[in-house]
Amino acid sequence: MPQAYQIVDHTYDVVVVGAGGAGLRATLGMTAAGLKTACVTKVFPTRSHTVAAQGGVGAALGNMGDGDNWRYHMYDTVKGSDWLGDQDAIEYMCRNAIPAIIELEHFGVPFSRTEDGKIYQRAFGGMTKEFGKAPIQRTCAAADRTGHAMLHTLYGQSLRYDATFFIEYFALDLIMEEGRCRGVMAWCLDDGSIHRFRASKVVLATGGYGRAYQNCTSAHTCTGDGNAMVLRAGLPLQDMEFVQFHPTGIFGAGVLITEGVRGEGGYLTNGNGERFMERYAPNAKDLASRDVVSRAMTIEIREGRGCGPNKDHIHLHLSHLDPKIIHERLPGISESARIFAGVDVTKQPIPVLPTVHYNMGGIPTNYHGEVLTLKNGNPDSIVPGLMAIGEAACVSVHGANRLGSNSLIDLVVFGRAAGLKCADDVKPGERQAELPKGAGDNSLARLDHFRHAKGSVPTAELRRRMQKAMQDHCAVFRAKDVLKEGCDLVSGVHRDMKEIGVKDRSMIWNSDLVETLEFDNLISQAAVTVEGAHNREESRGAHAREDFPNRDDQSWMKHTLTWFDSQTGKVKIDYRPVHTYTLSNDVEYIAPKARTY
Ligand code: FUM
Repeated sequence: MPQAYQIVDHTYDVVVVGAGGAGLRATLGMTAAGLKTACVTKVFPTRSHTVAAQGGVGAALGNMGDGDNWRYHMYDTVKGSDWLGDQDAIEYMCRNAIPAIIELEHFGVPFSRTEDGKIYQRAFGGMTKEFGKAPIQRTCAAADRTGHAMLHTLYGQSLRYDATFFIEYFALDLIMEEGRCRGVMAWCLDDGSIHRFRASKVVLATGGYGRAYQNCTSAHTCTGDGNAMVLRAGLPLQDMEFVQFHPTGIFGAGVLITEGVRGEGGYLTNGNGERFMERYAPNAKDLASRDVVSRAMTIEIREGRGCGPNKDHIHLHLSHLDPKIIHERLPGISESARIFAGVDVTKQPIPVLPTVHYNMGGIPTNYHGEVLTLKNGNPDSIVPGLMAIGEAACVSVHGANRLGSNSLIDLVVFGRAAGLKCADDVKPGERQAELPKGAGDNSLARLDHFRHAKGSVPTAELRRRMQKAMQDHCAVFRAKDVLKEGCDLVSGVHRDMKEIGVKDRSMIWNSDLVETLEFDNLISQAAVTVEGAHNREESRGAHAREDFPNRDDQSWMKHTLTWFDSQTGKVKIDYRPVHTYTLSNDVEYIAPKARTY
């Protein structure tokens, strides 16, 4: 059967899958180092989801007269992660954040400016000075379109070098040989051809999987394709139970309203008009970390203090801000609020609700971007030939909860790190062994299976069931029985996939088949997420168990590893220790303590 597909073969030093901020930064680094690099991307690069990032990118530049220091940034990130972040990787990110921003400035990112021409920085949740003493303005911003500015600049820069872009190619599966990654299979959506890429290194930069949920700020394309390829390759994902809810998604639409609104002085009220965050986080108030604000909002609504006739949302106010500031620094969200909520932000509050926004979990890597697995008792065993960066990866710099603006910096710092690692490890044009016979056949068998699926249940129906199960059973607050029901529902959806039906059999722009392959990617991630959440009997960061309300460092300061068997739908769980050591002697290990705001 797979012989029915014509395969176009390619050989590259490196193949980067994904062209968001991380993928583009890696691609330009590889090509600048003289490596023959392909960048394979499902969407046109400037349509990648990085384009939707709004509020900014974190780095301790200290431009706002606050006297910042990367060590403060590191402290905040470790604390924000609720002590699940790997401290060597966090040190690497926070130290390299500063030159990474200067590099972006030199690349041409149109950052907003202070009066004296420096890069403008705004306040974001959990960012403080002097190890938690007071809030600091650390988030470098290009109005409220920072991701857009970065993505377009990085794409422009990457075109200066000699990378080959394979645009609107859907990556299907890794090619593995005896535990080593040898390449990747992809389907060209435009002409229907199948491509087999052989490479010394494959770098997955495929983003998160927000679309496993019903309401999310993520684009429809965020289906975690790289994560699912890793699961199908028999490798584990890490910390998938940690799903971040952004406090301010537009009620009903899910569209993001940046935390930058609160950074510029916006605030939340409940149905009684009360600024309730003062009760939950007396110091940080509306700028506590996202998990804290999302829980507070959920409690307000659950206890009958929501806004609107159904008391089912919260109000975000910015009408008290100077219209000039709104116009200059928050033009994007003013437009989103008008289009998606019908409100004029200079006069009315925006109805908002905590909305799935980011996956802390993903493909386990070290801070060079090399993928790790648990092998022969070694929890940091490197998977040769395979790397991961960006939201797809779990480095783990975000641990159990990511601080706002640490995502964009993660993309460029680790995109660059992956480029440096490949430049060290791969000689341009080095000879690669022949691929094993039948390389990629399993991937084509999967494609063929779904392409010709004749069942009676449309993909959309199964996807709706999965998204509802995740939304209702693996949300901001979690408890054993609800999670168990969630595990059963998701496994029921997986079981019913044998009834799936795809109507379009063509290979050219077959969106029915694309959505089915994406759904197949999502269901495995939904399963490991809800099973991981059921398994972790403590509360930490974004994982709030009502039946285990406290953090339990004794038993649970460890990363969860999950494997998925796509035949049976069964999830296997094991663990990796957290890196409780730093990279240098510049900072000491930051020991766990209570997390108050
Ligand atoms: O609120 C925001 O602008 C989102 C930023 C982030 O997730 O880092």
